[in-house]
Amino acid sequence: TDKKLWAGRFNQPTDAFVEAFTASVEFDQRLADYDIQGSIAHATMLAKQGMLSEKERDAIIGGLERIRQRIANGDFPWSVALEDVHMNIEAVLTEDIGDAGKKLHTGRSRNDQVATDVRLWLRDEIAAIQAEIRRFQLALVELAEREADTILPGFTHLQTAQPVTFGHHMLAWFEMLQRDHGRFEDCARRMNQCPLGAAALAGTTYPIDREYSAELLGFDAPCANSLDAVSDRDFAIEFSAAASILMMHLSRMSEELIIWSSAQFGFITLSDSFCTGSSIMPQKKNPDVPELVRGKSGRVFGHLMGLLTLMKSQPLAYNKDNQEDKEPLFDTVDNLKGCLKVFADMVPEITCNAEAMRQAALKGFATATDLADYLVRKGIPFRDAHEVVGKAVALCVQRNCDLADLSLEELRAFSPAIGNDVFDYLTLEGSVAARNHTGGTAPEQVRKAIARARGLLA
Ligand code: ARG
Repeated sequence: TDKKLWAGRFNQPTDAFVEAFTASVEFDQRLADYDIQGSIAHATMLAKQGMLSEKERDAIIGGLERIRQRIANGDFPWSVALEDVHMNIEAVLTEDIGDAGKKLHTGRSRNDQVATDVRLWLRDEIAAIQAEIRRFQLALVELAEREADTILPGFTHLQTAQPVTFGHHMLAWFEMLQRDHGRFEDCARRMNQCPLGAAALAGTTYPIDREYSAELLGFDAPCANSLDAVSDRDFAIEFSAAASILMMHLSRMSEELIIWSSAQFGFITLSDSFCTGSSIMPQKKNPDVPELVRGKSGRVFGHLMGLLTLMKSQPLAYNKDNQEDKEPLFDTVDNLKGCLKVFADMVPEITCNAEAMRQAALKGFATATDLADYLVRKGIPFRDAHEVVGKAVALCVQRNCDLADLSLEELRAFSPAIGNDVFDYLTLEGSVAARNHTGGTAPEQVRKAIARARGLLA
């Protein structure tokens, strides 16, 4: 079976190293199931169009099903000499069923086969990725619900800014993932066109029915242009871009989890089952999982750059360069799914240390803006109020105390507009509760946002 399917015009055997160098079967055998699906659709179409008898079609489909089974059982004779998944399957099919197998390649090329296989594979993987995103989002909603009232300092520049609720913070992550989900949706929709029938590049002289092949495989339509059909890898790049943005999000979340779980912050505790220890320092419990996710973002970004560079100078139509699209895509999918899974599993087991968050929020004048807003409500222009509070903060810094530690008299020295009710506005609870509008951090709004999020997940 190792006889090359294209050997007709060759006089010398392939150089042994070149054979291995040009082969892709070691990695593209992962596409076997999709290659078989595509071949079954193609044979079905050929028979409908009168280019195969029903008997030949059935022999081909039967043979392909047996091959599917053999591959699943790990008992398929993969051969590097047969270069790639497409020719391996076709050669074994012909060995099994004889001449009908040789007719399968009528009106098609490996170029449209590989373009079809990758699209079919990626379509399934995108669905699996989207399901994992949903599972992760649900975990975030549940954590947000649990911690809707828990207050921590919100940061800008990693400096204490204003108090926020932990639930609100989790729902910010939810929104990132919501956009990621939409990006994969777009990618899958644009990708869902069928290259079959492009043949090598120009189309084919046989009376094929491309609409029918496309329909059999669940594509929305055949690709509109045969040259584009076999040379387009936009879908791979678009997928990698969506994957990179998602990994960037996971990396940002990782960074926060790592900071929050440090002894210096102590805001959260990660479950032991998602941490590892140190071989030398007995006290250590390291946030390896988020660290590794943060690290893996690098390889996914790298694959995006790799794919862009792979495509940037290719003339139409197919070039062997394209064989290089598969390993980065496979690696992107595997790592992305792994990262999503580990986050979806880890997040429900996060414990919040509400007291540590509260103590941190009490430092750093998180309610300074609330004091300024209070003065505005008493009729002071915002810029003046800003100045007044800034001076009060400066005094606190000098005394190493908080705004709420100043007496009413001391505060009134900065502005006589300040009254006894001011202390209500300087509390953390008052501060978050006051931000009670769509998208705000008030627990009431967090609960509304949770209801909306649950609706989106339903
Ligand atoms: N193994 C090839 C790939 O991955 C399949 C298509 C090969 N076509 C060709 N004309 N050499 O792209």
